Amino acid sequence: MASTTMRSLPFGIFLLPLLLASVFGHTSGAREPFACDPKDAKTRDFPFCRVSLPTQERVRDLTGRLTLQEKVSLLVNNAAAVTRLGIKGYEWWSEALHGVSNVGPGTKFGGDFPGATSFPQVITTAASFNASLWKAIGRVVSDEARAMYNGGVAGLTYWSPNVNIFRDPRWGRGQETPGEDPVVVGTYGASYVRGLQGDDGNRLKVAACCKHFTAYDLDNWNGIDRFHFNAKVSKQDIEDTFDVPFKMCVKEGKVASVMCSYNQVNGVPTCADPNLLRKTVRGVWRLDGYIVSDCDSVGVYYDEQHYTSTPEEAAADAIKAGLDLDCGPFLAVHTENAVKRGLLNENDVNGALANTLNVQMRLGMFDGEPSSQPFGNLGAKDVCTAAHQELALEAARQGIVLLKNRGPSLPLSRRRHPTVAVIGPNSNVTDTMIGNYAGESLSLFKKHISMINPQAGTHTCVACGYTSPLQGIGRYARTIHQQGCADVACATDKLFSAAVDAARQADATVLVVGLDQSIEAEFRDRAGLLLPGRQQELVSKVAAASRGPTILVLMSGGPIDLGFAKNDPRIGAILWAGYPGQDGGAAIADILFGTSNPGGKLPMTWYPQDYLSNLPMTSMAMRSSRSRGYPGRTYRFYKGPVVYSFGHGKSYTKFVHTIASAPTVVAIPLHGRHGSGNTTISGKAIRVTHAKCDKLSVAVDLDVKNLGSMDGSHTLLVFSKPPHAGHWAPRKQLVAFEKVHVPARAQKRVRINIHVCKVLSVVDRSGIRRIQMGEHSLHIGNIKHSVSLQVATLGVIKS
Ligand SMILES: *[C@@H]1O[C@H](CO)[C@@H](O)[C@H](O)[C@H]1NC(C)=O
Ligand SMILES: *[C@@H]1O[C@H](CO)[C@@H](O)[C@H](O)[C@H]1NC(C)=O
Ligand SMILES: *[C@@H]1O[C@H](CO)[C@@H](O)[C@H](O)[C@H]1NC(C)=O
Repeated sequence: MASTTMRSLPFGIFLLPLLLASVFGHTSGAREPFACDPKDAKTRDFPFCRVSLPTQERVRDLTGRLTLQEKVSLLVNNAAAVTRLGIKGYEWWSEALHGVSNVGPGTKFGGDFPGATSFPQVITTAASFNASLWKAIGRVVSDEARAMYNGGVAGLTYWSPNVNIFRDPRWGRGQETPGEDPVVVGTYGASYVRGLQGDDGNRLKVAACCKHFTAYDLDNWNGIDRFHFNAKVSKQDIEDTFDVPFKMCVKEGKVASVMCSYNQVNGVPTCADPNLLRKTVRGVWRLDGYIVSDCDSVGVYYDEQHYTSTPEEAAADAIKAGLDLDCGPFLAVHTENAVKRGLLNENDVNGALANTLNVQMRLGMFDGEPSSQPFGNLGAKDVCTAAHQELALEAARQGIVLLKNRGPSLPLSRRRHPTVAVIGPNSNVTDTMIGNYAGESLSLFKKHISMINPQAGTHTCVACGYTSPLQGIGRYARTIHQQGCADVACATDKLFSAAVDAARQADATVLVVGLDQSIEAEFRDRAGLLLPGRQQELVSKVAAASRGPTILVLMSGGPIDLGFAKNDPRIGAILWAGYPGQDGGAAIADILFGTSNPGGKLPMTWYPQDYLSNLPMTSMAMRSSRSRGYPGRTYRFYKGPVVYSFGHGKSYTKFVHTIASAPTVVAIPLHGRHGSGNTTISGKAIRVTHAKCDKLSVAVDLDVKNLGSMDGSHTLLVFSKPPHAGHWAPRKQLVAFEKVHVPARAQKRVRINIHVCKVLSVVDRSGIRRIQMGEHSLHIGNIKHSVSLQVATLGVIKS
């Protein structure tokens, strides 16, 4: 998002919006209608209030009644009231990355709503590879959001999820994303959005927002920050990496909003780029919704990037490019003058408003009483329910990844109530477990952000409650607790000897180490990949002294170079918990003691530290370059050594899978004029736009057998390699994934459909997506299958 940091801006600009913001009530209680109040005879009968009219007509009616000044006052996140038409002010900025949060000024905790269910950070939830879980979380979050809206303490427009690719392991916001693979990120985005927005046709439960469009994944590295970064991106990388999740969000998730980012892409600020916004997002992908700026993006490209010479030009450029709503005051201040100077037509402003009003109508905001609408019955009793909190716990159990299990050392025995030494800077943490976008991490930026969001950072706890690792382990064992390091920075070894003593006395040792928001956060990229300070030394010393097995548990958003622990025989097992959410400690304990079987898989590559030696964060290229010694990024393009690879993750049981059936030849039908000649088949790769793509898929049936004595879930990751790698194609690409639960000693058959045009295609250097004809090799774990793609009109079998 929306920046949790605001640049300092001239103070006067903020006074007007702040006054308007105070109109927006603070008290919790039944919400008054936003507009079209049935009790208000003067305004309730306008055509724009008529539920029976088509939305478009209602929007046109309302737009026709507004003056230019009124229209302009609606172009910003804290939209002004239009009292004469019975319309109240509205704060558009709310956030729900992994639970309703108070990061945006549209949501406030307190009174009947002291907190909300805080799910694991997204990188952890992504590791579950369970799309139905992602959607289920979205449903719960939107129940709580609607309940809080009805109670007058939250909005209906949520600027989540973050679907940027986790391109560089140092990125401070990588934790907010579903990882490094475009298909996983896009599937997560579309699933979470559908959960949030509901399945009621055109009507929206809440409006989600996929951000930050695009090629935005640098916060502050080596003196370069996101406000001044010009991402130089090739057409090829845009098409086969950066755009993929956004396209899936819009086309498959039907998201109601897209946010443009702070940075420039190839010299143009994304929020001023008509090719990105008007042409691609709205034109090609057909966004039905609004495009919003990241907070003060327009001000940033005027003041900081000096992209235009006057503020009116900056405002005009944004709206003409396709921006509909400004987070920040810039458009409210400068748009009227832009129109007066002829830089912009009032019709352009109408177009922007049509998109925001359309979403408000679909949310029911012009339908009168909130209580008589769908979800009108939700209230305080529906927030932090036992079922919601159970799902947060379940999400953590599904997301935790077992990286190593020598012996095996895990699960720990529950018999004879063992004594466990619980050691490390993250061993008894609470809000560290929820990562960012939950309130607390903002305090550092409070000074800046308070101008646009006065209440940010004032709440330190927004979860329903917490279970720390120490508390979780305490449910299974007697514990001896030692911090070992005062905090994750671990500057001294002062507490080491007490920790070593504890490990000597216990039946088993659990070390909980890693990172927190002081190491990786918004506006804070990491310098390296090793454990901070002297944590590594703590781990090795404690492991050497432990009487029983030593288990290492890591909390982090980004990957850690754990080479030392992977190879240390005294460290029996390693778990990565990401940031596991409000009950993360309970989930960790359930896995340690085997009441839950781990099934998570890494959604990003874990690189060794020296991967960074020739890898400026500012180099956007995904593909490696031998001549420049550039290693390339993510499992799709990087071939060098790794600590743990994308998709790695063990189980307490043993699964095998075999192919039950799969086609060996698939015919690709072409559209009429392309099917008649050979002109488009040159180079043995046809353009995706020339193929009849609908329902064109490769169906693979797999049998999954659980050979062990414990129930568990197995994730099938299907990778493909095209016939000709060349400079076009990734070395391999995830084309489908499916998670399946299989009881001990049972077997299940799973069908996986691989969409030919979407995922078996590759992108050429000009950014054109093509399907290579010939043998595509599919890899699923250790099994391989070849499928030959052939053009249907050349006389091969029609599928
Ligand atoms: C662990 O954290 C909880 C909650 O913050 C606190 O009440 C408790 O005293 C801590 N326990 C230890 C042993 O430090
Ligand atoms: C297309 O190419 C194939 C093989 O190169 C050839 O046999 C065939 O006659 C061509 N078809 C047409 C319509 O040109
Ligand atoms: C996916 O998550 C849902 C919701 O928690 C759960 O019911 C289901 O069993 C999970 N699927 C697998 C295969 O574990």
